[in-house]
Amino acid sequence: MEILKTEIAKNKVPNHIAIIMDGNGRWAQSKGQPRIFGHKNGVNSVREVIEGCGEIGINYLTLYAFSTENWKRPKIEVKTLMSLLVSSLKKELKSLQKNNIKLNTIGNLNDLPEKAQKELSEVIKKTENNTALTLTLALSYGSRDEIVNVIKNLSKKVVNNELGVEEINENVINNHLYTFSLPDVDFLIRTSGEKRISNFLLWQIAYAELYFTDTFWPDFRKEHLFNAILEYQNRERRFGKTSEQIEKINE
Ligand code: IPE
Ligand code: IPE
Ligand code: MG
Repeated sequence: MEILKTEIAKNKVPNHIAIIMDGNGRWAQSKGQPRIFGHKNGVNSVREVIEGCGEIGINYLTLYAFSTENWKRPKIEVKTLMSLLVSSLKKELKSLQKNNIKLNTIGNLNDLPEKAQKELSEVIKKTENNTALTLTLALSYGSRDEIVNVIKNLSKKVVNNELGVEEINENVINNHLYTFSLPDVDFLIRTSGEKRISNFLLWQIAYAELYFTDTFWPDFRKEHLFNAILEYQNRERRFGKTSEQIEKINE
């Protein structure tokens, strides 16, 4: 694994990695266990990936933890996921501090149980001056919901004469998204074999490299992350230009 790590070109790592952590339920069921067993074990993978990102100097990591659609799951699963969030935050605060990690959230936080809201705002406050890695948890997050919110807020500004219609551009929209403080996503990983986006960061992944792996989230370890990053480093990001133009820039 150390060998794998040294193969990563430190000056070419993605600035912002986003992960759709999927497959907890199937992982548990394949072991004859209830779905929630998978969620509990998924927490270990979160810890591993945060650690791995720290080791190779990733600046931004965004994790899809709970979608706006996930509220439709059985009540007992939702409830257990929420208490798992609270207990994990309590448990991990120390190591976030030790590793200089700043916690951030995106999504409809008001929908979360009060206990979770309180715990989140405490950890956010306590880690706000940390500078190594910005860890963003997407909670009750839906990209369409986020875009609807942007449109509402911009419309209000236009109606109140605070903003002209012609002033609306990509930058203005960026600044009104939940992710206003984050750079564009460079690399999006989804585990568990599903090849879809499931309403995650639709605007922000416009030019992200996409990576799908069959590994279920609770099995995802640092070596999986490093392998994914090695593949990322072999891709050519062209942003609409030609390969020849890109090669010239890199010369
Ligand atoms: C991802 O695993 C965790 C959440 C969506 C909260 P799933 O719970 O979706 O697991 P599968 O996809 O059913 O296996
Ligand atoms: C996406 O996974 C949401 C999270 C990982 C939090 P889902 O398991 O909810 O996605 P679908 O329903 O299979 O598309
Ligand atoms: Mg799933």
